[in-house]
Amino acid sequence: MPTPQDPTEIQGVTLQSIAEQFGTPVFVYDGDKITSQIQALQDAFSGVMLKIKYATKALSNISILKVVKSAGAGVDAVSIEEVRLGLLAGFLPTEIMYTPNCVGFEEVQEAVDLGVTINLDNLPVLAQFGQTYGNSVPVCIRINPHIMAGGNAKISVGHIHSKFGISIHQLDEILNIVSQYGMLITGLHVHTGSDILDAEVFLRGGNVLFDAAMKFPDLKFLDFGGGFKVGYKPDDIATDVFQVGKKVTEAFQEFCKKYGRELELWLEPGKFLVSEAGYLIVKTNVVKQTPQLTFIGVDSGLNHLIRPMLYDAYHGVYNLSNPEGKLKPYNVVGYICETDTLAADRLIGEVKTGDLIVIKNAGAYGFSMASNYNSRLRPAEVLVWKEKAHLIRKREEFKDLINNQIVLEL
Ligand code: LLP
Repeated sequence: MPTPQDPTEIQGVTLQSIAEQFGTPVFVYDGDKITSQIQALQDAFSGVMLKIKYATKALSNISILKVVKSAGAGVDAVSIEEVRLGLLAGFLPTEIMYTPNCVGFEEVQEAVDLGVTINLDNLPVLAQFGQTYGNSVPVCIRINPHIMAGGNAKISVGHIHSKFGISIHQLDEILNIVSQYGMLITGLHVHTGSDILDAEVFLRGGNVLFDAAMKFPDLKFLDFGGGFKVGYKPDDIATDVFQVGKKVTEAFQEFCKKYGRELELWLEPGKFLVSEAGYLIVKTNVVKQTPQLTFIGVDSGLNHLIRPMLYDAYHGVYNLSNPEGKLKPYNVVGYICETDTLAADRLIGEVKTGDLIVIKNAGAYGFSMASNYNSRLRPAEVLVWKEKAHLIRKREEFKDLINNQIVLEL
């Protein structure tokens, strides 16, 4: 039986028709889902002055950024390229937060010139920034709160061994630099990791910010980062954003009283906004029976969705062409010349060559982490918006692979 979790259509547009019209493999995004996730956060944090900065890195197609904008959120960019994408999507520079890590100072200067909010995460660049701009350009500081959180070690970034943020234990050094150059610090930021289930983690990060904030009189906002967990497996528990909203709002209001002024609260969700909105539709090239297993070999692989191989991530899969078929155990694998298991040991409606397989939770860190490995082409992207399917990125062609190559006459 097709379940609501295994949709055959989005806003009345069938996934089958999208695959027929645009071919496979294809990423499909549900604009309504993105909008409703933003709305859920707005509702959950209605007691504070909330600003949502969508973590562009999760899915950076300009049309997706426009959906985010239409729902009233801003963007969080980690590279100058993401800043430029945000501007192209129509965001004002003031709606863009730029949080680079280990970039050269020239890139920071470029971002200053573009007028976006700058978030710095190391002492040497903070000092260089102070020396260069004094108090003429406001700046936010990313604190490493030393909290271990997140779905796995590769996506935990707020702990003591992480390269991100300025250690909270270096607060005195931060304050020395700030006073030496008379810098204007308008924000403090923490982001501890991705796939964080527990509201307590956000509160602990908040408490670190609240304590540090008392030393910075000119603050306008505190940024709690992103990292809300979404459901990947059936019956998976996702972060209860209403519980986080309630707890964090209470603590934040308390803090603002102590601080003497109401500040804005910023969030930087990536996965929460786009993960479940995205589906990767692939086609079965071969059903391969071995003495041990039955493989479904599809026209995609780790080049299009690297999360299963990189993080052992679980992505739900189902047979769109045979949703009510007899369930059989399969391993869904790609066409890449490496072990690229997309889903292992799953019960899927009986599959035959040509069947369309849908991979779920493909919105976040799917296309944005896709590559041309094995000289394969990247898929098309389609957005379902106002009950219509729109092509928002053409499928790559062979010429895209060789466009930038300079072929030597040998
Ligand atoms: N803010 C900052 C500063 C970040 O570094 C990140 C993610 C986010 C916000 C958004 O986190 P989210 O809400 O999406 O969890 N590729 C990995 C996730 C890496 C996240 C990197 N930073 C994955 O596919 O699980």
